[in-house]
Parts: sequence; C-alpha cells; structure tokens
Amino acid sequence: MELYLDTADVTAVKRLSRILPLQGVTTNPSIVAKEGKSLWEVLPALRDALGGNGKLFAQVMASDAEQMVAEALLLSQRVSGLVVKVPVTREGLAAIKKLKSMNIPTLGTAVYGAGQGLLSALAGAEYVAPYVNRLDAQGGDGIAMVKELQTLLSLHAPQSKVLAASFRTPRQAMDCLLAGCQSITLPVDVAEQLLNAPAVQAAVEKFEADWQQAFGTTTLS
Ligand code: E4P
Repeated sequence: MELYLDTADVTAVKRLSRILPLQGVTTNPSIVAKEGKSLWEVLPALRDALGGNGKLFAQVMASDAEQMVAEALLLSQRVSGLVVKVPVTREGLAAIKKLKSMNIPTLGTAVYGAGQGLLSALAGAEYVAPYVNRLDAQGGDGIAMVKELQTLLSLHAPQSKVLAASFRTPRQAMDCLLAGCQSITLPVDVAEQLLNAPAVQAAVEKFEADWQQAFGTTTLS
C-alpha cells in the first residue's frame, strides 16, 4: 500500500517522514494557501523534506479542460515525479482523458460519489481520491462510498487506485484500507492521532519502572 501525508507543512513532513513509511505528499489549493507560500516554493521544499524523493501531488486551478491541461503541463515540466490533481467535473474528465494521451499521470479529486470516481478512472486517472469525511459531513456515508468505488475499480478499471482522502479519524482511514484501498493520504493531525496511543506510552513507562526497581537502571547494560 501507499501512505501519503495531506499537507504542505514542510516542518511536519520533515518530522513525520523520519517515522512513517511515506510514499510522498498530497496537497490541494487550500492546503498550499494556508502555508502562505507559492506552490513553486512549497513543492521543492516538500520534496527536500521527504529526503529528495517521493511522489508529490498538486492540483490545477483552471476550470476549463484546455487550461487544466496547460497547467498540468506546467506542473509536470517544473516538478519531476508529480501527479496532477484534477477535480472530477465534466471539464476535469476531458482534461484527464487528454492528459492520459500525453502520458501525464493524474489523480481525479473532489470525488463524492462512486460513479463519479469510476468515470475518472475510465478517463485515465491513475489515482481516484474520494472525500470520506466531507461526504460524512454532508450526511452521506463516506466509507460506504469508498467500498463501492473500490469494488467498481477492481472490476472495471483495475489500472487505477483509490487514494482515499479527507479524514478526521484514523478509524476512517483504516476502514478504507479494510475495503481494499491501495493508498490513503492522512492530514497531519490524523497521522498524529495514529501515533499517539496513551496506553502504549503507559505500558513503556511501566516496563521502565519495573526495570528500575529491580536493577536500579533503565538500560540493558
Ligand atoms: C484530497 O485530495 C484532498 O486534498 C483532501 O484530502 C481534502 O480533505 P479535507 O476534507 O481534509 O480538506
């Protein structure tokens, strides 16, 4: 499976890439805007924070297919190994089809329905990103949608992968993996929730205390 962080926070990527088996970093326009730096500044810094390699994802801003393709070309020329995120609108689907014919890898984003995601895969998107928590927040069932999407891709577009996105809890991410998704992207706070297990810390502290009491030290030697 592939694990990504969904952030443009370079410091967080540096810190977490030491600990987590990350394949790369996904961004979106809101995430980049929050950092207050240009995309052209942020993408190389994220690549450095990953140790010089790793996959990066950045999104086009245009809303018509022709401009989306032009922006995708610019992104892939300026940043190697980049996957271009394209919102799965009518124009986005046209852009994904065109980019596929140009061998530019894409991710179909802003996916709120299994059928919508399937169309982006059939158009040629390498990844499809369903928005789990955002759908839940609208009263939908994000996990149920991901399960349907995963089944549809397995049956009809096995060359595309679900990159499940938009999480508030580790449970949501684990449910997507249990549904068979090959990739997930975690916001920094959800990655931290996954790492912060108070019971684990308590167990380690008890081992130390017992060792200290018996041997007067907390080391092996
Ligand atoms: C994925 O493509 C998006 O960047 C992201 O996961 C959206 O999620 P949010 O609901 O955390 O903003």
